Amino acid sequence: MVPSSLFIGALVFSLAQAQCPTLPASPALEDISLLPDPFSWYPAQDGRVSSVDDWACRREHIATLLQQMELGEKPPTPSSVNATLSGTTLSVTASEAGKSVTFDVSITYPPTGSTPYPAIIAYGDLSLPIPDGVATITFPNDLIALQTDTSSRGKGLFYDLYGADHTAGALIAWAWGVSVLIDSLESTPSAEIDPTHLAITGCSRNGKGALVAGAFEPRIALTLPQESGTGGSVCWRLADSEDGGSGSVQTASQIVTENAWFSSAFEAYTNNVNELPYDHHMLAGLIAPRALLSIDNVGYEWLGPWSSLGCMRAARAVWESLGVENRMGYSLSTDHNHCTFPEEQGKDLVVFIQSFLLGKEGLNTTVEKDYPGLAFDSSAWVDWDVPVLSN
Ligand SMILES: *[C@@H]1O[C@H](CO)[C@@H](O)[C@H](O)[C@H]1NC(C)=O
Ligand SMILES: *[C@@H]1O[C@H](CO)[C@@H](O)[C@H](O)[C@H]1NC(C)=O
Repeated sequence: MVPSSLFIGALVFSLAQAQCPTLPASPALEDISLLPDPFSWYPAQDGRVSSVDDWACRREHIATLLQQMELGEKPPTPSSVNATLSGTTLSVTASEAGKSVTFDVSITYPPTGSTPYPAIIAYGDLSLPIPDGVATITFPNDLIALQTDTSSRGKGLFYDLYGADHTAGALIAWAWGVSVLIDSLESTPSAEIDPTHLAITGCSRNGKGALVAGAFEPRIALTLPQESGTGGSVCWRLADSEDGGSGSVQTASQIVTENAWFSSAFEAYTNNVNELPYDHHMLAGLIAPRALLSIDNVGYEWLGPWSSLGCMRAARAVWESLGVENRMGYSLSTDHNHCTFPEEQGKDLVVFIQSFLLGKEGLNTTVEKDYPGLAFDSSAWVDWDVPVLSN
């Protein structure tokens, strides 16, 4: 006789699976003018996401759609990853199908703290103040996938390994590199880095990359995109609206002419982003229930500050549905120079690092800051409510 608990478990499992629709091989185009409902099904079917299991299915679908339509494919773990530590340099080799590529990261250890250290992986130069006890790992994202301009497409170590015509744009190629780095940290305990307490950051273009890496690498505990603008914390639909045809805010149709950050597949949608079955509040939502603090700056219209405020506020719904809204914060500062971190946001950053990298308990991580008082009317863009997802 089947023990009843097993039987009930199997029944619950099959009911949950019945909710999870099969994605079409190529996505059908939508016409959604407001921010899409993260808790609806795609393709459309009755009911909404109502449990944590439903969300796991929906989350996979959103990740697939983002790769198919916008970012390109993030390959699985390469068949071999090897790392050697020499001083404070970790040298990482990834091999696949007879080819291999090697890149180095440099580790800056904190003067105090305890080993293994939590660490912040920084794309390019770190532009956030880091508290004591946290290491910094400088990640050479520009070597993994070049980002000079559109002629960078297919260039960099990622493409040496997978071929210049791989679908991946630079943002998802960098995320692959971060996954390989974390594999290497896990297999190199002598590096004294705690792979369960890692953050990722980057500013501006590298901030777009940090958000994508947090979304596509579940071992990142804390994602800290800084002034990531359009292509990062900004929703495509909101950028088009904020720009209003003026050319003062970066939009999807403009961004694909600037660089090779996205898959070339994205170019089919950039003139009508309402066709996308998702927007960047759902990219950010892939990070839940892990921690995200989006750090933005009102000073640059090009970065779409109003769009980023609205997009991140909408993203917070995913954490709310899981009952962990205090793991998602957004902070829009008053005007300051691009990629210089203002004192104003210091306490917002500190509580996130203390709580999610250094493991301090009991801090108040409710951060929903609009320092310039820009205001965003969510009711004009969000026509769905936030379900409470059952276990
Ligand atoms: C490299 O790593 C793979 C596992 O990813 C392992 O099987 C192999 O032995 C390693 N090679 C060397 C030279 O250490
Ligand atoms: C946490 O901080 C938020 C924002 O400053 C505040 O509204 C809230 O009351 C605080 N919660 C607690 C429990 O102190």
